[in-house]
Amino acid sequence: MKTIAVLTSGGDAPGMNAAVRAVVRTACENGIKVYGVIRGYNGLINGDFIEMDLRSVSDIINRGGTILYSARSVEFATEEGMRKAIRTCQEYGIEGVVVIGGDGSFRGARDLSERGIPCVGIPGTIDNDIACCDYTIGYDTCLNTIMEMVDRLRDTAESHDRCSVIEVMGRRAGYLALNAGIACGATSILIPEVPFDIQKHVIERMKKTQRTDKKHFIIIVAEGCDVDCEALAKEIQAKTGVESRCTVLGHVQRGGYPTVRDRVMATRMGNYAVKLLMKDTGNRVVAAQKEDVVDYDIFEALNMKKNIDLDLYNVAHEVSI
Ligand code: F6P
Repeated sequence: MKTIAVLTSGGDAPGMNAAVRAVVRTACENGIKVYGVIRGYNGLINGDFIEMDLRSVSDIINRGGTILYSARSVEFATEEGMRKAIRTCQEYGIEGVVVIGGDGSFRGARDLSERGIPCVGIPGTIDNDIACCDYTIGYDTCLNTIMEMVDRLRDTAESHDRCSVIEVMGRRAGYLALNAGIACGATSILIPEVPFDIQKHVIERMKKTQRTDKKHFIIIVAEGCDVDCEALAKEIQAKTGVESRCTVLGHVQRGGYPTVRDRVMATRMGNYAVKLLMKDTGNRVVAAQKEDVVDYDIFEALNMKKNIDLDLYNVAHEVSI
C-alpha cells in the first residue's frame, strides 16, 4: 500500500492521540503516505484530510481527546454517504483506512471494507465494551479519573456522614462501574449486566453496614442501568435516614492525560494496524488479549459476545460491606 488514511470516530478516548501518532509514524517510516481525516467519517465523505508527516504528531502522546477530532456521522450511515466516502478515497488514492473508535465505528469500517476499501479497526472507547478485546484504549485512564473523583467525594461524604450516589459512564456496559466500584470500596455497584433490586441491593446492604457502625456510603451506578441518580439518592435518604447526594460524573470521565497503559497499548495497536495494511490485510480489528496484541476478522469481531466477570462482581459484593 502506498497511501492510507487514519480517522477517529465516536466518543473520544484518552490514548487516541497516541494511536494516531503510532499509525502516522509507522506509515512514514515505511514509505507510506498518510492522511489524517478530520471529524471521523464526515471527513472521509468531504475529503477533509491533512497529509501528515513525522512531525505532525509530535507532542501528542500525552494529550487527551483527539487532534483529528471525532464525530458520529449520520451521513455515513446512508448508502449515498458511503458512496461519497468511497469516491473521495479513490480520488486521493487511499488504499486502506485505520479507524480508531468503538463498535459503531467498526460497523462503518466493515461496510467500507465490504465495498472494497480495506479497513483496520483499533478499539478506542472508555467503555471497554468491544467483545473481541479484553481492553480498549481509554479505559484505564477513565477508570483512574473516576477513582480520583470518587475519592474526593468520599472525603466529603465521610465528613458529613452522607451517602454519595455516583453515576459513571457506560452506555451499555458496566465495566467502568464494576472496576471503579471495587477500587473505591462502593457499598453497592449497579451494572446493566446483573439484575438488581434497589431495596435488596442498596437499602438492605446499607442497613446491614449501619448496624456495624458505618456512617458514610458510596453507591456506584452505571449509566446503562437507567436509574435516575437524583431519585435514587432521595429514596436512600428516605429509607435509611442517611443524608444523600447524587453526582453524575459526566464527560469529565472522557478527558485527561492518558495513563501509561493507554499510551503503550495505543502505540502497539497503531503500529500493528499499519503492519496489517502493509501485508494488504484489511477487514480486521486489532485487539488486546491479555497482554498480547492480536487481530480478528471484522465481521467475526462484531458478532462476538463479551461477558462481565461475575466472579469480580461477587468479590465486590463480599468485600465492600
Ligand atoms: O461511548 C463512550 C461514551 O462515553 C459512553 O459511555 C456514553 O454513554 C457516551 O459515550 C456519551 O456520548 P456523547 O458524548 O455523545 O454524549
